[in-house]
Amino acid sequence: MKVLIAYSSGYGTTKEVAERIGSILTQDAAIDAVVISVDDVAGIKEYDSVIVGSSVRADRPLANVRDFFHLHRKELESKKVAIFAVCLSANCQSGKEKVHREYLSQIIEKYPQINFMASAAFGGKIDFEKLNPVMQQLMYRVLEKTGLPTTGSVDTRDWDFIEAWSLEVKEKLLEQKK
Ligand SMILES: Cc1cc2nc3c(=O)[nH]c(=O)nc-3n(C[C@H](O)[C@H](O)[C@H](O)COP(=O)(O)O)c2cc1C
Repeated sequence: MKVLIAYSSGYGTTKEVAERIGSILTQDAAIDAVVISVDDVAGIKEYDSVIVGSSVRADRPLANVRDFFHLHRKELESKKVAIFAVCLSANCQSGKEKVHREYLSQIIEKYPQINFMASAAFGGKIDFEKLNPVMQQLMYRVLEKTGLPTTGSVDTRDWDFIEAWSLEVKEKLLEQKK
């Protein structure tokens, strides 16, 4: 079974999550997973299943992920699809719920014909030193609401949670085959 894991990542955080998901799925010899940036996806015809990951900027999934869904919406209707967001709001349970309700819903509700078999909100990471002053200001606004530190490197990814979700997705993919 061919699985596409397409990610959009500004600073590499979401890419690392996508790679971890890919490494867990391919622990089963029946799954062949390709992990690439959404920008490098030429087409999705060859894939049985598509998993899309996006980080979040200003309360929205990244534009190239929104474009990806728009571009491939018809073909996605015949595939099993999963989606995940990686962002700082998802650093706690209530934040995860907000990410499902306010961020992931922007895509899931827009495409009712697509069969989303799974969705997830994962905590994100930020390195303040890598941001320019404008980005830093934007981040302060986000972090004010989360109570997270506003200096240095803040990594809220919960790898156990990411792995548990990946295993659930793996089971769903293999169920499909039976
Ligand atoms: C300019 C900017 C805006 C952001 N806006 C949000 C936001 O609205 N909500 C949120 O939860 N996280 C927000 N974040 C945090 C990112 O989603 C988080 O750092 C994520 O892990 C980045 O992943 P990436 O390295 O794959 O881009 C923002 C980060 C930046 C740099």
